[in-house]
Amino acid sequence: MKIRDVLLSEYGKASSVPSPINRLMTGFAVDFRDGCDINLGAGYVNERTIPHQQIQSACEEVLARPKKYRAALNYGGAQGSPNLIESLRRFHIENRSGGITEPILNTKEIVIGANGATSLLESITHLLPAGIALTADPMYYIYCNDLERKGFKVVAIPEDDEGLDTELLKAKLAALGDEKAAIRFLYVVTVNNPTCTILSNNRKRELVEIVTQMSYDVGQKIPIFFDNAYRDLVHDSTVEPVESALCYDALGIVYEVGTLSKILAPGLRIGYLIGSKGPFLNSIIQRTSDIGFSAPLINQEIASYLLDHGIEAQIEKVNGGYRQKAKQVKTWIAELLGEHLQECRGGSAGFYYYLTLASVATDSTSNFFRFLTRTTGKENIDGPLDAQHPKVIYIPGEHCVHPKGEMVDIGKRQFRISYGFEELPQLHTALKFMKSAIAYSHENS
Ligand SMILES: Cc1ncc(COP(=O)(O)O)c(C=O)c1O
Repeated sequence: MKIRDVLLSEYGKASSVPSPINRLMTGFAVDFRDGCDINLGAGYVNERTIPHQQIQSACEEVLARPKKYRAALNYGGAQGSPNLIESLRRFHIENRSGGITEPILNTKEIVIGANGATSLLESITHLLPAGIALTADPMYYIYCNDLERKGFKVVAIPEDDEGLDTELLKAKLAALGDEKAAIRFLYVVTVNNPTCTILSNNRKRELVEIVTQMSYDVGQKIPIFFDNAYRDLVHDSTVEPVESALCYDALGIVYEVGTLSKILAPGLRIGYLIGSKGPFLNSIIQRTSDIGFSAPLINQEIASYLLDHGIEAQIEKVNGGYRQKAKQVKTWIAELLGEHLQECRGGSAGFYYYLTLASVATDSTSNFFRFLTRTTGKENIDGPLDAQHPKVIYIPGEHCVHPKGEMVDIGKRQFRISYGFEELPQLHTALKFMKSAIAYSHENS
């Protein structure tokens, strides 16, 4: 008898095939040659920003002080370590308030995710019914892909240099008409990935106003999630100080997602959510319990110790490194790619530049892509099969813009490069290859 394969849910079916971007990145990872190929694609932090020594000492301190850090190698509670929650509370009020005062924070709850901010974002998709999720275009493709596999319809609104364009959002809401009732939440990355555009305080305030009004219109609170993954990585001192959207939240619909991945270490897997106490946050806590009880308690205690001891110096150090790289890379971009550039976003925060070329395609079938990945089939470009020339990996814009959004066409001429992971000499070499890739594209167009 013929036996069919394991029966999968709709989500299971959608997840059984890797997303296009995962396929692309896995393909690169398989034959990546350390010391030869250059990875401007990965969202990895710079290894030198991770405080290895302090993490080691923090671990020793935590284990040596069992009265404060109780049973740190045992299971933890689902809301998160009380020490870490207290450290985050202080961190937000004293150092990084963005206008949050103690009375405001007293009306909020902080919950720690099971596995970084990613696990909290993922939990949202299980706790809200499927429907429309609004976000900015270009979008954080990893999360938006997850949302679509879970049955959400992602509607992406183009951003300008202040972030998600609220005029376009209003027009989109008007065009949705009755479909507005299907809007489940907004998801806005405050230093956007992939563009590193910083959401201005004005825009943030306007977004909260629009969603507050929309909540009244439909008679239901519609949450707005601000993803602050790169909030503490604003390294340009000319940028206005970033305010917290929790300050504008009269209705209790604002939630802020934070992570220690970018300022300490992604490997600690510490992400948190701040928002109004109530059924939604309770359901997040239950979900954390369901998927793994809690983040590893030892990591939470280490993170708490690090937040209590020298976090501002650590953040300054991290930003000092990225600030210097951002400036140098910008100079090289102007020098090497300048005449072919239509637009360059980023450079003030985070560690990505998002480039738009005037007339050269960057998608995975383009000559630009083939040149850089050494897949032109021409030996003078790719090098001999057993000793190929260095490859350069980047994220094509086609994967960053929504496939059904307004940016599909321009996305084919865009790309994200990261100056986080690789060091300056490799970044310079990669940009020189990109200049040659543009010349090759022109010759072969
Ligand atoms: C916008 C955004 N949100 C969330 C994350 C993931 O954070 P975490 O490491 O805490 O899961 C990233 C990682 O790059 C990100 O770019």
